[in-house]
Amino acid sequence: MLKIENLVKSYSGGKVRAVDCINLEVKKGEIFGFIGPNGAGKTTTIKLVTGILKPDSGSITVDGFDMQSRPIEAKGRIGFVPDTHDAWDRLTGREYLNFIGDIYGVEREERRAALEKYLEMFEIADAVGDQLRTYSHGMRQKLMLTAALMHRPPLWILDEPLTGLDPRSAHALKKEMRAHCDGGNTVFFSTHVLEVAEKLCDRVAIIDNGRIVAVGSLDELRAGKVGESLEGLFLRLTGESDEK
Ligand SMILES: Nc1ncnc2c1ncn2[C@@H]1O[C@H](COP(=O)(O)OP(=O)(O)O)[C@@H](O)[C@H]1O
Ligand SMILES: [Mg+2]
Repeated sequence: MLKIENLVKSYSGGKVRAVDCINLEVKKGEIFGFIGPNGAGKTTTIKLVTGILKPDSGSITVDGFDMQSRPIEAKGRIGFVPDTHDAWDRLTGREYLNFIGDIYGVEREERRAALEKYLEMFEIADAVGDQLRTYSHGMRQKLMLTAALMHRPPLWILDEPLTGLDPRSAHALKKEMRAHCDGGNTVFFSTHVLEVAEKLCDRVAIIDNGRIVAVGSLDELRAGKVGESLEGLFLRLTGESDEK
């Protein structure tokens, strides 16, 4: 569903290599966790995968469509929830959702059904008439979740989706991520909350300093180290085990 090949991205005229030759394949129907310490390159990778940033080199393929040469088809298959929600302050929630629905060509009835389901699920139905600038971080996050799911994306990508969510909403989100995959779709999300990755993911990749240091199911990654927690594994592989 998602193929990342030899992906490289630098900032500051090449001084910071945020993504340093990443290769990764995410299969249809799986929840894939992208974990790593702060500054590891998770957000940069996600911005490349969603076509927000252009890579220095390498390629991204979404459901067989190359992000560089077929961006409309590739992006149309993605629902993206970013980690910050700064824009669109003067739109109301409903205006924002309609704007996104128009961009993705979501039919009226489908849109109505999606909004009814997700606004209820994330408990923001009462707020959709208000401008986004009045929303808390959690409310914006929940609006972004709704917007990303409206067109039933085959590939749902989320950057640190649980940050700032209350336990109820976090629970609803995790359940929805699993339901989305059970419906034949794919979820790719970044997190530094290891318990979440441990409970939710079919497979994970650990990124450190722009490089993938491990990829596989948790059982595969623990091979030879029976009973090791993801935290132990993470600390060992990201070179911080001595500090613990
Ligand atoms: N716009 C930018 N300009 C320069 N450096 C950046 C920029 N964005 C991110 N970086 C750097 O790139 C590296 C990876 O950042 P990021 O992808 O945000 O990591 P993560 O999401 O894993 O915390 C970090 O060293 C960060 O400081
Ligand atoms: Mg980040």
